[in-house]
Amino acid sequence: MNALCTERPAAAEQAAANAATEIRTGRLVLKSPVDVDTKTLVALANNRAVAENLATMPYPYCEQDALDYFAGHADNRIGGQRFSVHLDIPGHKFIGVIGYGPMQEGADPEIGYWIGEPYWGFGYASEAAKAVVDFAFEEDEVTTLLGGARITNTASRRVLEKCGFEYQGFGKTFSRALDEEVPVDRFALTRPRHQGLKWRRRERV
Ligand SMILES: CC(C)(COP(=O)(O)OP(=O)(O)OC[C@H]1O[C@@H](n2cnc3c(N)ncnc32)[C@H](O)[C@@H]1OP(=O)(O)O)[C@@H](O)C(=O)NCCC(=O)NCCS
Repeated sequence: MNALCTERPAAAEQAAANAATEIRTGRLVLKSPVDVDTKTLVALANNRAVAENLATMPYPYCEQDALDYFAGHADNRIGGQRFSVHLDIPGHKFIGVIGYGPMQEGADPEIGYWIGEPYWGFGYASEAAKAVVDFAFEEDEVTTLLGGARITNTASRRVLEKCGFEYQGFGKTFSRALDEEVPVDRFALTRPRHQGLKWRRRERV
């Protein structure tokens, strides 16, 4: 059974705990998305190249979509976590979003992320994903984390592979931006596998 469905604190308590969560990596700060300015979010999110690779992101992406996103963060934080991704420089420049949560009630949580196009290719998604995967298994109660990428999305597939996800097979997912089903590769990372990978990384140090 998905551990995220077991007994949990009340919604308000959980939302407050999530809002206080901050993760620092070498170059990034991951924190509650509620602090992100709506215009800044829209400027990076309103991009077909981003939306077409995500299941639920609308395109075009307008200010109301940003407000709906923040409302979802406040109301619906049981069984998942969302973080805004910022460069760890003065002003903490916002560059994207990452998180995990069940796509359907009772399902294992699935990781999702996007980085604004001007920031692609610098290793930021890989850095953020590794930190969130560690968080899910070490600070949260996740037992299996799912992942998925359109078959055309080589960069996202690499992000998942570098985090230790294993290929599970081929499927289809509805893309809101494209308004049609698209073929996807499905991945999973279990807690024992994650622990093994962490152990091997430590042994190499
Ligand atoms: C996928 C995405 C998150 C990658 O972000 P990023 O910060 O550029 O990723 P990274 O720099 O960490 O690169 C990850 C890997 O992909 C590779 N990569 C990057 N762009 C690539 C491309 N166009 N083609 C092939 N490989 C690519 C990188 O070389 C790296 O692999 P390596 O470490 O083995 O060299 C970003 O492109 C994005 O937000 N796309 C739109 C939304 C999306 O696809 N989200 C994921 C949904 S499953």
